[in-house]
Amino acid sequence: MEESVLPLLNKKKMNMDYNFDEIIDRRNSDCLKYGVLQERWGRTDLLPLWVADMDFRTPDFIIQALRQRLEHEVLGYAAAHPQWRSAIVQWLQKQQNWSVREEELTFIPGIVRGIAFVLQAFTQPGDKVLVMNPVYHPFFLVSEHNGRQVVHHTLQLEGETSANRQYVIDFDQLDKDLEGVKVFLLSNPHNPGGRVWTADELRRIAQLADKHDTLVVSDEIHADLTFVPYRHTPYATVSELARQHSITFGAPSKAFNVPGIVSSYSIVPNEQLRRRYNAYLAASELDEGNLFAQLVTVVAYTQGADWLRQVKAYISSNIDYVEQFFANELPAIVPIRPQASFLVYLDCRGLGLTHSQLLDLFIDKAHLALDDGRKFGSAGDGFMRLNVATPRSVLQQALRQLKDAVNND
Ligand SMILES: Cc1ncc(COP(=O)(O)O)c(C=O)c1O
Repeated sequence: MEESVLPLLNKKKMNMDYNFDEIIDRRNSDCLKYGVLQERWGRTDLLPLWVADMDFRTPDFIIQALRQRLEHEVLGYAAAHPQWRSAIVQWLQKQQNWSVREEELTFIPGIVRGIAFVLQAFTQPGDKVLVMNPVYHPFFLVSEHNGRQVVHHTLQLEGETSANRQYVIDFDQLDKDLEGVKVFLLSNPHNPGGRVWTADELRRIAQLADKHDTLVVSDEIHADLTFVPYRHTPYATVSELARQHSITFGAPSKAFNVPGIVSSYSIVPNEQLRRRYNAYLAASELDEGNLFAQLVTVVAYTQGADWLRQVKAYISSNIDYVEQFFANELPAIVPIRPQASFLVYLDCRGLGLTHSQLLDLFIDKAHLALDDGRKFGSAGDGFMRLNVATPRSVLQQALRQLKDAVNND
């Protein structure tokens, strides 16, 4: 392994004691990132930087808590961890300055499933569901698969350079697109692109949602990975309207690298909405947690602040590296700097390739498995999504392979 290469990150100064440079072989560990390369990319000799989990070791305090529980050796039916609600409430208060009441929380077995539950509980087949395109693909896939009509509001990409290229909302168009829409699926922060929506933008969304009588689902799974100077604003906090017409989803899964555990929750402040939603979940016991999910949530939220600070510093430094690499070595590709998350959306349109040529470049020539921008909707043509939650040396290797492929093309 290459020596720790962090020219942009002074580990001592940052008070970092975790080693995110360590390379952990994830092959043969039943992990999605490597496990489906043949099936989805048609070959296995690829360096995978796609699905949104981290190549870093899951925090030691979480592993220890799981080990300790396994020591008991009876894995019978679980009762909810007694601190599950209070740990989430305190985390949201401290990290996001959001006062949530314990009764507003419900366990859900994954946010994508949670979206399906909301659609089933509050809409009928044929009803309109709005997504902001490009977007995390299950937003529209789950809606389509449940027979709902998807309205794509296209985000506008502004700015010329990596420093200022960002997605923005055309509110006049959003007003038109929201006509007759029952549910607005909001990614807050946004995936892909990494926009941290401002309180003002969210307030304007809330006004339009209220005007059109639309239920807003705010998916805040990436919130804990917001980088300074940006600040995550929970949608439900921007106005009383927003609080009353929203369902928010959260999870420790992205920030603490535990998505395989499935540990999500929803927050529904409005009592009427909550009663209907909880009745839907309870009817099929969809709100039952499991032995590990609730334990992991409690441990992450009560012991994880320092690990989170460190992993964010490492990821942020990787993003700096990506930005400098493309500016200096491959300026035809412009990374959109994420304001939150470890997903960097690469604007590859400057290469002047057709979509299939772009895939050929990344897969067959550079031997990389990234997420194809088209997966996130029509606005993703000419884009690729790079996951930088990986040791720096792996990232360097991937970018070298890409540069060589472009130069030899
Ligand atoms: C915006 C967004 N929502 C939800 C998920 C997945 O959530 P879950 O694994 O809880 O279904 C992801 C994963 O990448 C995501 O990016």
